[in-house]
Amino acid sequence: MTGPRQSELLAREAVRLAPGASEESALGRRVFVEGSGSVLTDLDGDQYIDLAAGTLTQSLGHCHPEVVAALTEQAGRLWNVHDFATADRAELCELLARLLPEQLDTYGFFSTGAEVVEAALRAVQAVADPGRNRIGALRHGFHGKTQGARMLVHWDIGNQAHAGNSILGYSPYCYRCPLELEYPSCGVRCASLVRRHITEKSNVSALVFEPVLGAAGVIVPPPGYWEQIADSARQNGVMLVADEVLTGGGRTGTFLASERFGVQPDLVALSKGMASGFPFAVLAGRAEVLRHPRAAGAGSTASTYANNPLGIAAAKATLQVVARDTLIENVRTLGALLDDRLAELKSRFEVLGDVRGLGLLHGLEFVRSRESREPAPEIARAVYLAALDLGLRTSLGGHIIRLAPPFTIDRALLEEGIALLGRALEQVTEAGR
Ligand SMILES: Cc1ncc(COP(=O)(O)O)c(C=O)c1O
Repeated sequence: MTGPRQSELLAREAVRLAPGASEESALGRRVFVEGSGSVLTDLDGDQYIDLAAGTLTQSLGHCHPEVVAALTEQAGRLWNVHDFATADRAELCELLARLLPEQLDTYGFFSTGAEVVEAALRAVQAVADPGRNRIGALRHGFHGKTQGARMLVHWDIGNQAHAGNSILGYSPYCYRCPLELEYPSCGVRCASLVRRHITEKSNVSALVFEPVLGAAGVIVPPPGYWEQIADSARQNGVMLVADEVLTGGGRTGTFLASERFGVQPDLVALSKGMASGFPFAVLAGRAEVLRHPRAAGAGSTASTYANNPLGIAAAKATLQVVARDTLIENVRTLGALLDDRLAELKSRFEVLGDVRGLGLLHGLEFVRSRESREPAPEIARAVYLAALDLGLRTSLGGHIIRLAPPFTIDRALLEEGIALLGRALEQVTEAGR
């Protein structure tokens, strides 16, 4: 239940505040006043284990002391000098070069996921051969809400879709296979159709993809999917643009999710895992693309907040801790635990149609019955709210709940969070009997 002080404040702001907030905050109705590690506190003093890590941004948890120190120090020195070099930028570039695959050796810095996706689209359009004027995207991909990013969104995710000049390919959504096939007897037919429709067309310059599709409910491709598509793209001169805004930075157990699938992208967009929730994004690319004379003209990476010194300081501090404390190993170890515990929940609760994930990124798909697989957003909402009342924050969207804990979460706290989710599921399913 939303406490009295929060209720009063929410009523006050509702008089003036434009509606349209995310489903999870509109429904959750909480006013958070503090975050420390994996725990949030609300205005009435109640605490929550945050298994959504902010907006999947808090890889180091909330207010990591080293990031706070770096930001505080920078805030006292310098906030904005357009995109002039600052003392930390060279070091951030060197750090990224150590963390990213070798071919991604050139970097541009921006503020948001959508902004970096747009920057990637601009680079693609600048270097594409004449006649290659279309871009491939996958159904169930999400890339942001600016016009270019929306052009790549081909499914009903509220007001974001705006299919434009992009070509659609099948995503590897085995639980709801659009071809009504079963893995592995399907022979990963969805990938052969992407190959045919996108990578073998002479007018397509690039395929923009999420290696693991996050917003659609953590869709993890089966073996063979990316191998087939990546090889074909390479042979047919189609650039690979990985949107790792959500997965990048270690969340799936490697710095890039693309690495898990052996995909070597030409460009990668990163954001959420970069700067501990401070608005910041990175475009990483091959030098042939980002240093190409047509992509590298004056101003091509500039904007008011691009290269912001505060973002750079927060990113440098965040990534230094990720590297120094070998946190991506934690992601793999804790991810295996999360996987086991969620499999147990799935065996207990029929409303969990599918549970899947990689590393510390998991999706729970709620259904009315296992047989019909009919999506059950009302059950997902009820579980989300019951969990919140018990002191657990998750990430809700439609009939999906996502779990993405901080990489630094204590094992016992993660166990406690999953136990609370189990209790929420019990409450909702017993109430429905
Ligand atoms: C894969 C992916 N790309 C792009 C975006 C857009 O990022 P932003 O909301 O920072 O514009 C998101 C946001 O969730 C995302 O998950």
